[in-house]
Amino acid sequence: MDMAEIDHADLVIRNARLIDGSGGPSMRGDIAVTDDRIAGLGDLSRVEGAVEIEAGGRAVAPGFIDVHTHDDRALLVDPAMTCKVSQGVTTVVAGNCGVSLAPLALRRPPPAPLDLVCDSAEGFFADFGAYLDRLDGAPAAVNALCQVGHSSLRAGAMDGLDRPASGAEIAAMRAELERALEAGAIGLSTGLDYAPAAAAPTGEVIALAEAVGAAGGLHTTHMRNEADRVMDSLEETFAIGRAARAPVVISHHKCAGKANHGRSAETLALIHRARQGQAVGLDAYPYNAASTVLERSFIEKASRVIVTWSKARPEVAGRDLAGIAQEMGLGLQEAAEALQPAGGIFFTMDEADVQRILAYPGTMIGSDGLPHDEFPHPRLWGTFPRVLGHYAREVGLFPLEEAVHRMTGLSARRFGLAERGALRPGAFADLVLFDPETVIDTATFEAPKTPATGIDLVLVNGRAVWRDGETTGARPGRAIRLRALAELGAAG
Ligand code: ZN
Ligand code: CU
Repeated sequence: MDMAEIDHADLVIRNARLIDGSGGPSMRGDIAVTDDRIAGLGDLSRVEGAVEIEAGGRAVAPGFIDVHTHDDRALLVDPAMTCKVSQGVTTVVAGNCGVSLAPLALRRPPPAPLDLVCDSAEGFFADFGAYLDRLDGAPAAVNALCQVGHSSLRAGAMDGLDRPASGAEIAAMRAELERALEAGAIGLSTGLDYAPAAAAPTGEVIALAEAVGAAGGLHTTHMRNEADRVMDSLEETFAIGRAARAPVVISHHKCAGKANHGRSAETLALIHRARQGQAVGLDAYPYNAASTVLERSFIEKASRVIVTWSKARPEVAGRDLAGIAQEMGLGLQEAAEALQPAGGIFFTMDEADVQRILAYPGTMIGSDGLPHDEFPHPRLWGTFPRVLGHYAREVGLFPLEEAVHRMTGLSARRFGLAERGALRPGAFADLVLFDPETVIDTATFEAPKTPATGIDLVLVNGRAVWRDGETTGARPGRAIRLRALAELGAAG
């Protein structure tokens, strides 16, 4: 690479293993940053940095993109985003599983699972543009892409959620969605497995997803069923994408419940076929346990349940539901009833499925972390280092370069981030310096709120947000709008 034009940079990191995010082999070299951009790459021995860092062979990669989060409100109330920057995450995609903080005007407390993101009506934003403006005005440490949740639209437009939306209600939701897309929402998410949207027929989702297709956004889905009817749900997802002319992303792909263990061989084959004819992406987190609200259908499918929070009995957070039930002299479902509203961790997956889904070349990494849980699933703090340290280095599921690709280049392409997710002069300087030999998650189901080991430095838009085991206090994150994505896409 010809770096003759520059002789000074704000920062030069020397002797790094440069992993560019493309999945191709890494190379030894230096990387320079000036302002918010990567200024140079390769042999920079003639470039002088105002700050110089000796990497000593440690890796430098594009900052990780967490494509599946529920960080809508965390970005505002916990802008340091320590759980994410400590993993090397520099961009999050919010508004998943049908749940978004905007646009929604509520007069009563939000129904589950909207309460996973915010438990009071006042915390929601009636106007999507006002929500993005708030993110601009009080930036977080990480960048954010924000989606509109279908269940949030329903909660705003309908008096009862246990039925299909009427024509007038669909029109109202679509107008609201179009306003949000105009303001910069990147797409529409659904959570058809959850009570607020379970009664929505496929046609209702298509009518909304059409607006997303027309605006150049995307549609992500927590599918109607991730257990016995997972194949039907995949077909429904593909049909929605085709009818709406929108790219679709299958969220946290899994095969839940003992009866479905091993079926990822079938689901991945079906996904692979669909990908020949339409835009289909998928993401996964690297654990065999799920986490969401404490509901009957999830408890039924789980071999073990840990309570993550309970409004009725806050002191039980972190304990096994089985032990709580025994103490109360109740069955599991009855005990769960007594804890409502509440959340849980559900051991419902087979490790072989988890590995097969992670290993599938189209799978992106998304944490699905729940930042407001009292005793969260360890995926909130551990997802990215666990993929790098456990699944790539220890298990050997894929080379390190491929692991990085699944959290950078692949995700950036799917979400239209033309200037992120790559090490390239001119790209935004979202960077992570980490030690491939030691990087690992430390968060566990027993102690879930602990930062990863081996993530040494994290830059967002050229500014350090995590250094030597601590947040720096910088808040350089940006709310990235759909219109900007389209312009970047056209330019790139
Ligand atoms: Zn979900
Ligand atoms: Cu989710």
